[in-house]
Amino acid sequence: MKTRQQQLKDLLADRVMTARELTHELAVSQPTLSRMISNIKNEIVVMGKGRATCYGLPKNTGHEHARLPVYSIDAKGDVHNYGQLTPLQGGQYWWQSHTCSGEIFHHLPWQLQDLLLNGYSARAFAHRYGDHLKLSPRYTDWTEEDMLFASSRCGEDRPGNLILGEESLARYFDLVRNPPNMIEPANQTIDYPQLALKTLAREITPIQLSGEQPKFSVCLNEPGAPCQMLVKFSPASDSKEAVRYADLLVCEHLALEAIRIAGINAARSRLVITSNQTFLCLKRFDRRGIFGRLPVTSLRALHTRIQAPCDDWVAAATRLKSRGIITDNETAKLHWLALFSDMIGNSNQHFGNISFLPHGNEHFILAPAYGIRPTIYEPLAGEIPARLFTPPPLRKEALSELTDARQSAILFWKSAAIDERISEGFRQICFENCDILQLQEQKPKFHI
Ligand SMILES: Nc1ncnc2c1ncn2[C@@H]1O[C@H](COP(=O)(O)OP(=O)(O)O)[C@@H](O)[C@H]1O
Ligand SMILES: [Mg+2]
Repeated sequence: MKTRQQQLKDLLADRVMTARELTHELAVSQPTLSRMISNIKNEIVVMGKGRATCYGLPKNTGHEHARLPVYSIDAKGDVHNYGQLTPLQGGQYWWQSHTCSGEIFHHLPWQLQDLLLNGYSARAFAHRYGDHLKLSPRYTDWTEEDMLFASSRCGEDRPGNLILGEESLARYFDLVRNPPNMIEPANQTIDYPQLALKTLAREITPIQLSGEQPKFSVCLNEPGAPCQMLVKFSPASDSKEAVRYADLLVCEHLALEAIRIAGINAARSRLVITSNQTFLCLKRFDRRGIFGRLPVTSLRALHTRIQAPCDDWVAAATRLKSRGIITDNETAKLHWLALFSDMIGNSNQHFGNISFLPHGNEHFILAPAYGIRPTIYEPLAGEIPARLFTPPPLRKEALSELTDARQSAILFWKSAAIDERISEGFRQICFENCDILQLQEQKPKFHI
């Protein structure tokens, strides 16, 4: 028969419980429970204070006992305590931020969700660190727990300004002591092709950002203002597929410009073009100078926070507004971005492709737009499928942004149609899409 002590541990292995629940389940008095808890106090996690006190068991992750400190890096590169994460048995987490007493989560706390990588760089990251972490070199074999563990060991350069775990912090200090070589602006056309090759060959430390497009990071020695950039690149080839990727990178640059002209913040970008390769360089909005960092939160993490499904950007904006998380102004901007994306064939409107910056207490403003390009024209399995662009159906909730967003989409297609950095074939497609939107604009409208 199981001892009471074992019964207590079995209960806590399922979920966090209060003293009241435990005395009830174990049929013991409060003083008996207190004695039992005190006998195993080194094995359990005590959470909260007074009547709200809860008990749980720390997760035996197979990656050692885990109570993980979380640090934030400020705009000067200085380190601050941010909180402490304790993964618990039963899939819960005990999160103590430096500003509040503590909270129990049934999933990874939303504040830390963006520390988990996915996509191209996650695959490169697993390949690079799998052995060192005693994990599979294939990211597809990793669980969320494995990725969390990896973030706590080799997560020195994640998006935003948070660092999980002492080992990752030690790696951040290594970075500060041995910063990567600066790229001179005049050398970009020589250095970038080499860095692209090394990225594909997995010979350099992979950038710790999500997304499907291969990319690397550099510190660019801009006169008087060195800055951190991320660089996306097309394949170094004249194949149809490579040309299409190059065209789409130029389009991303033009789309960000069109967004900025419309008065919405977008990542600062620049194209570097060699004889057979295109590089899109984007200034990091979550970095300041060489070491400074700024906080960002993805739309996905904010949806975890409010426990809402990740459906579409228009609904998401309206939802965040109704919860008082963003203002009317930010809502209108996200509606605009959704419509603009629809009208430039950006089908990639997932919740990792929008981020927010904290603004005052509990509020957020949109981070600069990024990753917006006509993804419907992306090559598929090495082929360039013929795609027909059809103007998207109207979205009632965002109707007030329609005219403006369409004007900007027309401007975008027009600028792409005459941009000589884009191949002739694709410029023709841009020209036709511009026509389609202009025709739609001229259709008779109801004014009732
Ligand atoms: N300019 C930027 N500054 C900081 N972070 C960025 C910037 N652009 C993109 N990111 C981050 O990198 C991730 C991948 O970027 P994205 O442009 O979406 O790449 P992909 O085209 O591969 O999907 C984003 O989810 C975001 O976290
Ligand atoms: Mg993306």
